[in-house]
Amino acid sequence: MTELRSVRPVRMTGPGCLLREWDDGDVPALWALLDDARVADRVLDEAPPSPDDVRAAVRAWRQAAEQSPRREYRLAVVVADRPVGLGNLAVESSTHRRGEIGYVIHPDHWGRGLGTQVARLLVRLGFEQLGLHRIEATTRPDHTASCRVLEKAGMRREGISRDHLHVRGRWWDSVRYAVLATDRAGPVHPGD
Ligand SMILES: CC(C)(COP(=O)(O)OP(=O)(O)OC[C@H]1O[C@@H](n2cnc3c(N)ncnc32)[C@H](O)[C@@H]1OP(=O)(O)O)[C@@H](O)C(=O)NCCC(=O)NCCS
Repeated sequence: MTELRSVRPVRMTGPGCLLREWDDGDVPALWALLDDARVADRVLDEAPPSPDDVRAAVRAWRQAAEQSPRREYRLAVVVADRPVGLGNLAVESSTHRRGEIGYVIHPDHWGRGLGTQVARLLVRLGFEQLGLHRIEATTRPDHTASCRVLEKAGMRREGISRDHLHVRGRWWDSVRYAVLATDRAGPVHPGD
């Protein structure tokens, strides 16, 4: 089997957003995104990061982007020149050509199709540019918006992982989604 490709820098455009690498100037916008209580509740971290944590994370993501082969694609979702979200694609296994995606959109931009656009762009990045065979995602079973985002990105629901995460003192189930390169016969979303 041929090797997975490493892509850098990533720069992809959807109908209403740009997906690009993070830079130091994005730290305040990224912190505002992750510190928002509506986001923090959904991403299931123990606590929102501090501005210093965010600065260090952006530095680490830029270093990870330089690795060969590249395994982490941490990307900014930019609308009208402002970062308003993040999209992640992680290569979980090069051997098995498997990756996982995740995304966060600032609440001011919810409900406008942005989450769906980002998930579609990440799936395209994984299949068309990296050469992945399988792309996975997990979310909370009661997280309707995220489940819809994944379904609209072409993913199929594969099952529930019971007590998958232990966060803030309790167990959380996850619902697993995935799409295969072979599920996609031709462009799934023409015009993307
Ligand atoms: C999940 C998230 C990315 C959705 O982003 P978004 O830009 O609002 O998504 P879209 O506008 O593309 O909407 C996708 C679907 O979700 C539905 N939706 C959006 N907000 C919703 C809500 N609060 N409740 C129920 N459904 C909702 C939309 O109606 C749409 O479904 P439809 O096409 O059947 O109408 C966003 O809510 C978010 O960033 N949340 C916090 C972080 C997070 O949860 N990330 C995912 C972790 S697994």
